[in-house]
Amino acid sequence: MEMMIRGRRNRCSAAIRGLVRENRLAVEDLILPVFFHEDSEDVAIASMPGCTRWSMAGLLKEVKSAYEIGIRAVVLFPKIDDALKSEDAAECANDAGLVPKAIRAIKEACPRICVITDVALDPYNSDGHDGLVVRDKNGELKILNDETVEVLCRQALCHARAGADIVAPSDMMDGRIGAIREALDDAGFTETGILAYTVKYASAFYGPFRGALDSAPKEGDKKTYQMDPGNVREAIRELLMDEEEGADIVMVKPAGPYLDVIARVRDETTLPVAAYQVSGEYLMIKSACAGDWLDEKAVVMESLLGIKRAGADMILTYFAKDAAKWIHEGLV
Ligand code: PBG
Repeated sequence: MEMMIRGRRNRCSAAIRGLVRENRLAVEDLILPVFFHEDSEDVAIASMPGCTRWSMAGLLKEVKSAYEIGIRAVVLFPKIDDALKSEDAAECANDAGLVPKAIRAIKEACPRICVITDVALDPYNSDGHDGLVVRDKNGELKILNDETVEVLCRQALCHARAGADIVAPSDMMDGRIGAIREALDDAGFTETGILAYTVKYASAFYGPFRGALDSAPKEGDKKTYQMDPGNVREAIRELLMDEEEGADIVMVKPAGPYLDVIARVRDETTLPVAAYQVSGEYLMIKSACAGDWLDEKAVVMESLLGIKRAGADMILTYFAKDAAKWIHEGLV
């Protein structure tokens, strides 16, 4: 055959493939979410095989071991004792609470790691919603916006006081980014960053996470604040608001089923873009790889590379430690 152009020439050896590869996953791209509780025992999480809800001692070990293999950022997810949950979620801003305690302990054990905290009320709220809840006259649940934002500001300040580097509001209330930025600045925390869950869908893929923290809403769903999975123009609208309000990093969540949204957001902003490979994506890969038909390492790395290629600068993933090891082993 006479052909001037042959695509396969650029694929004919590992060396050439390495030269022409357009996207790569690096250990620095990875953010490890960690679960922990007040108990002194480390407990395996049934809904997320391979993940653990750590005691404080276990958490510090986990964070240090992540740091040792190159992971430079963690995001904290507490399981709060039922006795501390209330309708006003007041525990979320308790300076002596579990999260501030964990931030201080991590900063002491591993001072250079970037500590990111989740800002939302669901672990603290007796009804499991991300915001404050009231009932309207028809008995329907209503999630209050402006009143919630005030509480979120107190929660973010509490995390900043304890030493969090970045706060990450995952609640999807309107105006919270601007309000939190102002509250942080007024209190002198001008260097505390905001990673906004800008585009967070009302997704069925969060199920295993809610199992891990026992934080599922007691009633109703999150569709009046999290986004409709059919929408993408709305994602850009949320992006423009969060940019205007002072977000430092914007996030799309979930990641795998929303690669088109990551790509759109990447095109529309100059801000760094994060993507969250959520608990349901994790569980799907884990369960599918339990048999012999899929190679877990290869599938995990391909799923993460796909998220990177779509436009994410950084990825929150429960596979962060595995992926870091595989990157070091040269299995990319
Ligand atoms: C809480 C929060 C959720 C997740 C991160 N922060 C659950 C939710 O919104 O219901 C989900 C993460 C995952 O599924 O891995 N605001």
